[in-house]
Amino acid sequence: MSLSEIAKTIHASPTLALNEKAAILREKGDPVIHLGGGEPKSRAPVDAVLATTGLLNSGEIRYTPADGIPALKKAIIRYTEEFYHRLVAPENVMASGGAKQAEMVALQTVLNPQEEVIYPAPYWVSYPDMAKLCGAIGVAALPEDGTFYPRLLDIEQRVGSYTKAVIINSPNNPSGAMYSEEFIADVVAFCEKRDLYLIMDDIYHRLIFDGRKPINPFDYTKKPLDESKLILVNGVSKQYAMTGFRIGWAVAAKKLIEVMTNIQGHQTSGPSVLLQMAAVGALNGIQSSVENLRVTLENNRNVMMERLNSFEGVKVTKPDGTFYCFADFSAYEKNSNKLSEYLIDKVQVLTVPGAEFGLDGYLRLSYCGAIKDITEGIERMKWALDPNSPNELYIGDRKLVRDWT
Ligand SMILES: Cc1ncc(COP(=O)(O)O)c(C=O)c1O
Repeated sequence: MSLSEIAKTIHASPTLALNEKAAILREKGDPVIHLGGGEPKSRAPVDAVLATTGLLNSGEIRYTPADGIPALKKAIIRYTEEFYHRLVAPENVMASGGAKQAEMVALQTVLNPQEEVIYPAPYWVSYPDMAKLCGAIGVAALPEDGTFYPRLLDIEQRVGSYTKAVIINSPNNPSGAMYSEEFIADVVAFCEKRDLYLIMDDIYHRLIFDGRKPINPFDYTKKPLDESKLILVNGVSKQYAMTGFRIGWAVAAKKLIEVMTNIQGHQTSGPSVLLQMAAVGALNGIQSSVENLRVTLENNRNVMMERLNSFEGVKVTKPDGTFYCFADFSAYEKNSNKLSEYLIDKVQVLTVPGAEFGLDGYLRLSYCGAIKDITEGIERMKWALDPNSPNELYIGDRKLVRDWT
């Protein structure tokens, strides 16, 4: 079958593929523990559900403007004022089918074939393929000092004549690292000086721990928004536990939003009105669910850290936010794909191989699920990997016998 050159380079999203694998195994009755998940398990805010059902009951479900309904734009404008201290116009806002679509459309708006977009590693799995979908090239910038905290130098060194944009995701999927205020300030100033687009992927910006406060990139820009190349991306998926609603947004210069809207208009005509209404409900409704989720995740993070720190040979940096940690298992196995396969085969624990995020030897472990899953999942992993473990392990009334060394 003849496929396009671009299509041939695109891989399935490994995290979506894992979700499918977990669902299939569970259906077979396997006692799978999913430590690879990318979504909070709490319920969507009641205001989101009520806003949707209200409209659904009317039976009048129509097209909307491609950049979103006025009520959602208004809610995003209010959100931007509250968290980013900027009063933006409706023409500065585009609602999308998730932060993912907002980013994809932003990249399609600014990248020419063969141009480059730089992002720190480890990076979110979709960035390299999003660049490829534009015929462009993703360039990973692994911090030289071996930490998960990049310095400007790490970005600067990779900038060349083909560089068009930088993507910063903090707190970061997969490491949970929240980059320093100094780094964000440096990147904003650097991109302005070098006339580069800067996409700030802020999807986890309020899911942060230990008393940290969200960092506002607009604090460091010297330009008015309509002259700036800063594109802010956010959404309801993670903070409101609304992944399935698929609503995100971009805030940027009017000219950029106009072109992004043209592209999105041809792709999807914009997100579904029902789901936009749900996002309006979430953004304008009672906000306590966000803080409740944040507190739960911080507690889960603490449990995950405690368990991993007692796991001999495993090195892990304490996450500052998100619901992921990125642990170094290279003492056991340097090939993370092989290790991840091994853990699912032997003890039915799903993890995401570090290689997918640009760093082999690591596994991404999520703590967005139940505490019981975190503790039992790590226990099973220890049993599978530690050669000094007892010969048998019970999973419920299933007995596993160690037939490997
Ligand atoms: C860093 C990052 N950006 C964007 C997204 C996509 O979010 P959404 O569900 O709003 O498309 C994710 C989801 O996993 C993510 O981890």
